[in-house]
Amino acid sequence: MAKKKLVISTGAGMSAESGINTFRDAGGLWENYRVEDVASADGFRRNPALIHEFYNARRRELLKARPNAGHLGLVKLEKDFDVYVITQNVDNLHEKAGSSNVLHLHGELMKVRALDNETKVWELKPDMIETTLETVIDGHRVRPHIVFFQEAVPNIEPAIELVKQADVFVVIGTSLNVYPAAGLLHYVRPGVPVYYIDPNPASVPGGVTVLPMKASEGVEELARILAKA
Ligand SMILES: NC(=O)c1ccc[n+]([C@@H]2O[C@H](COP(=O)([O-])OP(=O)(O)OC[C@H]3O[C@@H](n4cnc5c(N)ncnc54)[C@H](O)[C@@H]3O)[C@@H](O)[C@H]2O)c1
Repeated sequence: MAKKKLVISTGAGMSAESGINTFRDAGGLWENYRVEDVASADGFRRNPALIHEFYNARRRELLKARPNAGHLGLVKLEKDFDVYVITQNVDNLHEKAGSSNVLHLHGELMKVRALDNETKVWELKPDMIETTLETVIDGHRVRPHIVFFQEAVPNIEPAIELVKQADVFVVIGTSLNVYPAAGLLHYVRPGVPVYYIDPNPASVPGGVTVLPMKASEGVEELARILAKA
C-alpha cells in the first residue's frame, strides 16, 4: 500500500531547542537588529557589509548547532509516511538530521549567490565565513541566498502543490505571522487532519488539533497520535 503523504511546515520554533534564536520571542533577534537594515533588499543596497556581518554571525551560530529531538523525530516518521518538510528556516538542521525532502521557502543560510546572476549559487565552507564581509567569489560579488522582505518567495508554488496533496498536514513552531508561508494552511483539502505544535500557539481555524508543546515533545506526541490513527 502506498504510504500516506505527511506534509510538515516548520518555522523558527523548530530550531529553538537547537539553540537558534526565534525572531519574535523575547530575546529574539529582532530585539538587537532592525529588520529593515538586515533583512531587506533596500538594506542590502544601503549597507551590504552590515548584512554580510549579520549573516556571518548567524552562520557561526549555526555551525555550533545540532538537530534536536524534534528534527530527528520527523526523520523517523519517514518509515511509515511519505514525509515532505516545507521550512521557513534558513538553517540546515532538517538536512543534518537526515530528512529526505526539504523545501526552503526563505532561502539557505550556508549559501550565497552572485549579484549579477542569481542562478550561480555557492555553498559556503566554514573557513569562508570569516572572510566574506564584502565577498567576491570567482569574480562575482555575492549576496546571501536568503529571501529578504520585499522579495518574492519563489518556492511558494511547489509548497502549495505539496500542501494540496497532503493526507496529513502539520505546522510546527511558527507564529503564523509571515506570509505567504502562513497561508499554506488554507490549501489543505477538506477532511485532512491538521496538527499545530507550538508552546505559545497563534490562533488557528477550528478543526486544527493544537499540541501546545515544544517541538521535541510535540513531534513525539504526533508520532503516537499518527500510530493510532
Ligand atoms: N532557524 C532559522 O532558520 C530561523 C530563525 C529565526 C527566524 N527565521 C525566519 O524568521 C521568520 C519568522 O517566522 P516564524 O514564524 O518562523 O518565527 P517566529 O519567531 O515568528 O515564531 C516562532 C514560533 O516558535 C514558537 N516556539 C518557540 N520555542 C519553540 C519550541 N521549542 N518548539 C516549538 N515552537 C517554539 C513560538 O511560540 C513562536 O510561535 C521566518 O521567515 C524564518 O525564515 C529563521
